[in-house]
Amino acid sequence: MIVTIDGPAGAGKSSIAKRLAMELDFDFLDTGAMYRAITLGIIRSHLEWEDVPGLIEFSRAAVLRWEGEQIFLNDQDVSQEIRTPTVTSAIHFVADLPEIRCELTNQQRRIACDLNEAGRGIVTDGRDQGSEVFPNAQCKIFLTASPEERARRRQEQLSASGRFLPLDEVLVTQNRRDKEDTAREVGALRPADDATIVETDGMTPDEVIQKVLSIVQQCS
Ligand code: C5P
Repeated sequence: MIVTIDGPAGAGKSSIAKRLAMELDFDFLDTGAMYRAITLGIIRSHLEWEDVPGLIEFSRAAVLRWEGEQIFLNDQDVSQEIRTPTVTSAIHFVADLPEIRCELTNQQRRIACDLNEAGRGIVTDGRDQGSEVFPNAQCKIFLTASPEERARRRQEQLSASGRFLPLDEVLVTQNRRDKEDTAREVGALRPADDATIVETDGMTPDEVIQKVLSIVQQCS
């Protein structure tokens, strides 16, 4: 079984998808981490963002692998560094390129296919999982919340890790990412036609997980 969870930045997809995978005893694939790792690799290799053939070549040669929750790029653990603001603000150069999306889409399908063949289910989270990557997934969820709620949650997350940012600033960055994610020509953020939309404003993480679990039960 494939369960896709898409939605905008700050909707809580990753933590919900991770918990859902645990509850269902499925594997979890964080596809944002794949875009982040390629972006980090390109930054480290000092390629220019204008060098589109170079960026595509980099993504095709890059080897991504996981050990539990850690992600490795060409055998280096990049789990922490892919989360830095430098990487986040550069991702659109990578995620906007159809050739790189095609490469990562193929990898995501291969991972899900291998797991399914081994009798394992998978929960994938991203922007295009239900709409583009897994159009035949049995269960598609689009998790969202108002921009203000998402920004507030993000601000809380940041201050828990010792960084305080004013809400306005968080909102400006988030709006920019929303615009980039919804405007791209291929793989734009949008709910699949057959996705169930879950608006999480005012819901606790436990309430969201219960809701999502009940949707999955209805799909199976
Ligand atoms: O999920 P996360 O916020 O880590 O994703 C980082 C970025 O990677 C997104 O803002 C988006 O630009 C890109 N992405 C994507 N398609 C996916 C997952 C992430 O374009 N399936």
